[in-house]
Amino acid sequence: MSTLSLSLPGGTWVLGDLTVTRFGYGAMQLAGPWVMGPPADRDGAIAVLREAVGLGITHIDTSDAYGPRITNQLIREALHPYPESLRIVTKVGARRDEQGGWPTARRPDQLRRQVEENLESLGLETLDLVNLRLGNAEGPQAGSIAEAFETLVELQRQGVIRHLGVSNATAEQVAEAQSIAPIVSVQNMYNLAHRHDDELIDRLAAEGIAYVPFFPLGGFNPLQSSALSAVAARLDATPMSVALAWLLHRSPNILLIPGTSSIAHLHENITGARLSLSDEDLAELDKIGGE
Ligand SMILES: NC(=O)c1ccc[n+]([C@@H]2O[C@H](COP(=O)([O-])OP(=O)(O)OC[C@H]3O[C@@H](n4cnc5c(N)ncnc54)[C@H](OP(=O)(O)O)[C@@H]3O)[C@@H](O)[C@H]2O)c1
Repeated sequence: MSTLSLSLPGGTWVLGDLTVTRFGYGAMQLAGPWVMGPPADRDGAIAVLREAVGLGITHIDTSDAYGPRITNQLIREALHPYPESLRIVTKVGARRDEQGGWPTARRPDQLRRQVEENLESLGLETLDLVNLRLGNAEGPQAGSIAEAFETLVELQRQGVIRHLGVSNATAEQVAEAQSIAPIVSVQNMYNLAHRHDDELIDRLAAEGIAYVPFFPLGGFNPLQSSALSAVAARLDATPMSVALAWLLHRSPNILLIPGTSSIAHLHENITGARLSLSDEDLAELDKIGGE
């Protein structure tokens, strides 16, 4: 655990009946290069997970497809038995092939198997929140999600899933899920430079549903923009800090899950997300989506 005393920026959010810190942690890239194991530094990955929880983070995002299985195993090894306050959010709907691809796996039998595998690898009897991961590696794809989502609703009725969400979804698919059962979160790609979901975020905020941007720092292609660099230079901060602070500022229902395999970056991101942005900064940053 850190000797640093870092309060987490953004406060908390309630997912259904589960309180989480708005500053969370995305565990995907701990699995190894391109999210295929083995991890580059297994001990380092365990240390980062323990540091995140030691700093008070109560929201970890994962999937059994990461590694595959490796990220969940690392989380279990680092943190089990889990602190009472920790919420581990996972997702189902894709598997990994030998080339590292992410073929979809959304038939009812595949989804049931993935839920069982997550329970087993994480060492849990109930999963706090399961996102149905839609679309493909290129992004969301239109189409009905009823059969797949109803499978998860059935597992929720059986008590192995507490809350449901969707990921990599179109706005229509979010609405379709909501017509079947309540959701507590949507996890889609969104960051300063990728703002297709602006309308959806505002709608979800009005309904009290969390929006969890994946790739908040650009993912495999770190965010780069002249406007972002200019604002960061003016604030004597890093572009990553400004990008995270902007997301927290963007809407109260946004929860952060930045990924890092470095304790130093974890500290930097927590400190950075606390930056306050002036109206002038925000106006400049707002132009980035159109750059
Ligand atoms: N639902 C989905 O389909 C989906 C898809 C992708 C991701 N996700 C979730 O979203 C989470 C976040 O995505 P992500 O981790 O891929 O992307 P990200 O958070 O946008 O960026 C992570 C990358 O940024 C680097 N980084 C972090 N902090 C930094 C800093 N202060 N300075 C410089 N570099 C820094 C990390 O490298 P270092 O390790 O060197 O810090 C890592 O390469 C994932 O962990 C996963 O849980 C979900």
